[in-house]
Amino acid sequence: MPAAAVQNPLLALIIVVLVSSCSCVSSSAPSTAHNASESDRQALLCLRSHLSDPSGALDSWRNESLAFCDWRGVTCSSRRAARVATLELESLSLTGQIPPCIAHLGFLTKIHMPDNQINGRIPPEIGRLTRLRNLSLSINSITGVIPDTISWCTQLEVISLWNNSIGGEIPSNLSECSRLQEIVLSNNKLNGTIPPGIGSLPNLKYLFLPSNNLEGSIPESLGSTTSLSMVVLANNSLTGGIPPTLANCSSLTYLSLAANKLTGQIPSALFNISSRVTFLDLSNNEFSGPIPSSSLMSSSLQYVSLANNHISGEIPAAMGNMSSLSSLLLAQNYLQGNIPESLAKIPYLQELDLAYNNLTGTVPASLYMISSLTYLGLGVNQLVGRIPGNIGHTLPNIQTLVMEGNHFHGPLPASLLNASSLENLELRDNAFTGVVPSLWALQNLTQLDLGENLFEAVDWSSLSSEMNSARLEAVYLDHNSLSGTIPYEIGNLINLNNLSLSNNQLTW
Ligand SMILES: *[C@@H]1O[C@H](CO)[C@@H](O)[C@H](O)[C@H]1NC(C)=O
Ligand SMILES: *[C@@H]1O[C@H](CO)[C@@H](O)[C@H](O)[C@H]1NC(C)=O
Ligand SMILES: *[C@@H]1O[C@H](CO)[C@@H](O)[C@H](O)[C@H]1NC(C)=O
Ligand SMILES: *[C@@H]1O[C@H](CO)[C@@H](O)[C@H](O)[C@H]1NC(C)=O
Ligand SMILES: *[C@@H]1O[C@H](CO)[C@@H](O)[C@H](O)[C@H]1NC(C)=O
Ligand SMILES: *[C@@H]1O[C@H](CO)[C@@H](O)[C@H](O)[C@H]1NC(C)=O
Ligand SMILES: *[C@@H]1O[C@H](CO)[C@@H](O)[C@H](O)[C@H]1NC(C)=O
Ligand SMILES: *[C@@H]1O[C@H](CO)[C@@H](O)[C@H](O)[C@H]1NC(C)=O
Ligand SMILES: *[C@@H]1O[C@H](CO)[C@@H](O)[C@H](O)[C@H]1NC(C)=O
Ligand SMILES: *[C@@H]1O[C@H](CO)[C@@H](O)[C@H](O)[C@H]1NC(C)=O
Ligand SMILES: *[C@@H]1O[C@H](CO)[C@@H](O)[C@H](O)[C@H]1NC(C)=O
Ligand SMILES: *[C@@H]1O[C@H](CO)[C@@H](O)[C@H](O)[C@H]1NC(C)=O
Repeated sequence: MPAAAVQNPLLALIIVVLVSSCSCVSSSAPSTAHNASESDRQALLCLRSHLSDPSGALDSWRNESLAFCDWRGVTCSSRRAARVATLELESLSLTGQIPPCIAHLGFLTKIHMPDNQINGRIPPEIGRLTRLRNLSLSINSITGVIPDTISWCTQLEVISLWNNSIGGEIPSNLSECSRLQEIVLSNNKLNGTIPPGIGSLPNLKYLFLPSNNLEGSIPESLGSTTSLSMVVLANNSLTGGIPPTLANCSSLTYLSLAANKLTGQIPSALFNISSRVTFLDLSNNEFSGPIPSSSLMSSSLQYVSLANNHISGEIPAAMGNMSSLSSLLLAQNYLQGNIPESLAKIPYLQELDLAYNNLTGTVPASLYMISSLTYLGLGVNQLVGRIPGNIGHTLPNIQTLVMEGNHFHGPLPASLLNASSLENLELRDNAFTGVVPSLWALQNLTQLDLGENLFEAVDWSSLSSEMNSARLEAVYLDHNSLSGTIPYEIGNLINLNNLSLSNNQLTW
């Protein structure tokens, strides 16, 4: 029995109760009292008897075999009397349950059994494994709750139970496991609040709790340690704001709080030069106020999504100084004013989404020259102006171009035929005029929405080519001023399942 437990009479009592309530020792191992190795062997056989093993992965785990250190997935500590140190039984199609007798493996430091079909609950007796450092039962079908006896595992460094059906609350005394480095409980049914003590765990690096039913606020102390690196709390029902300590945490590199009910302003520390955060996803919340700005903007941030919040004010020109950005996603907010020309200074920007805001004015010409762009979303704003004639050359990598629901006018440049990666072109509800170029030559084009414009004709010429847009699924040319005949070669678009040509003067 560990020294810590002996010092605590209540704890010792609970252990005695647990030991005596566990039937597997008394029933299956009469002579184990003085042979600890044999006791471990019996505990493995007990575990074996509770698991079913359709693929025969545990065939070596036989009663007749005394050399249990050679059984598949078992490693022993190099002591005079062999004791089980680790169990590694990953992806072996095991079903059944983890029995309480696993707790008799007193020298166990690692239980690694992810990606099986283990069901039932985690036995509270697991708390008796006071040497346990790594517990991984991810990607199984475990139900029940996380037993609060887990706090007895004072050596615990990693608890990874993601992708199970574990309910109830995260035990608050999990925060007594002061060596914890990784808490990974994603994709379960956990409810209640995040225990405040978790925020002060001195060695915590990774806190992954997304896709649960957690509520309440983010612990104020989270980020008060210099070990914390990645925090993912997305897809819960968390409320309140981002604690200043978290935003200011100098070791933090990855923060996803998407899809919660968080409020308040975006802390300026997250966008500051002193921050090391590279990935920031605050989308689908209720954040308000402006985008923080200073003359010393972060050069660490690579991915920023503030999409679908209540953020207002203008896009700060200083964002052009965020030199590592590859994705800037600001759609579905209340942003207004002009798009700053400085965004074009970002050297490797790939995704820029400003759709569904209230942006006005013309799109700076320099924006159409960010040659790294693959996604440009400008839809549903109040933008005006023309598309530059050479866009197909200046945006050679563009895959998605969304400009729908604005006040753009002028022709659609034929240079787009050079943008050979183009997949989605959505220009509906503007005032574009002239001839629709022969986009049917773009091999990866899947969506083409040019409806509700003032186009007068369509160049169908490349339709008959072998090299046409065989991937094209939807073509909307409705509500234009098109005339002429629809060529029968439109049947060459073999994947087309939506074609709308209504409200034109076209004939067959
Ligand atoms: C203890 O049990 C192991 C098998 O589990 C056996 O190999 C060993 O000889 C036993 N030791 C003693 C002293 O009986
Ligand atoms: C293991 O083997 C012993 C001796 O051969 C036998 O008495 C015992 O019933 C066996 N136990 C199991 C679980 O098969
Ligand atoms: C346990 O997890 C820690 C932290 O991730 C890791 O460094 C260590 O190698 C793991 N130990 C074992 C035995 O897998
Ligand atoms: C964990 O904490 C809860 C409430 O704080 C308490 O009831 C429980 O006894 C504690 N469990 C252990 C194993 O310390
Ligand atoms: C997670 O569990 C779901 C079923 O709940 C399964 O469909 C999915 O493939 C699992 N994810 C992984 C990465 O195994
Ligand atoms: C939390 O989960 C437990 C177990 O799944 C359930 O009994 C309890 O009602 C849930 N609590 C809330 C507030 O949903
Ligand atoms: C969010 O979590 C719920 C369970 O709480 C799950 O059903 C849903 O698929 C998750 N959504 C995403 C986008 O992960
Ligand atoms: C942020 O951290 C710096 C030093 O790392 C400190 O000077 C500053 O007061 C902190 N700000 C907040 C709001 O905690
Ligand atoms: C931003 O970083 C600078 C330089 O490291 C520091 O002096 C300042 O306090 C930081 N501001 C915020 C709001 O974190
Ligand atoms: C961008 O950074 C430079 C120095 O690196 C600074 O002079 C300039 O003011 C910054 N731009 C904005 C708009 O803050
Ligand atoms: C959008 O901006 C225009 C002009 O600046 C303003 O009149 C209008 O109220 C704004 N709409 C929204 C939803 O903010
Ligand atoms: C078209 O798409 C395929 C995969 O879907 C990709 O491998 C290929 O590079 C794309 N072509 C161009 C020109 O981008």
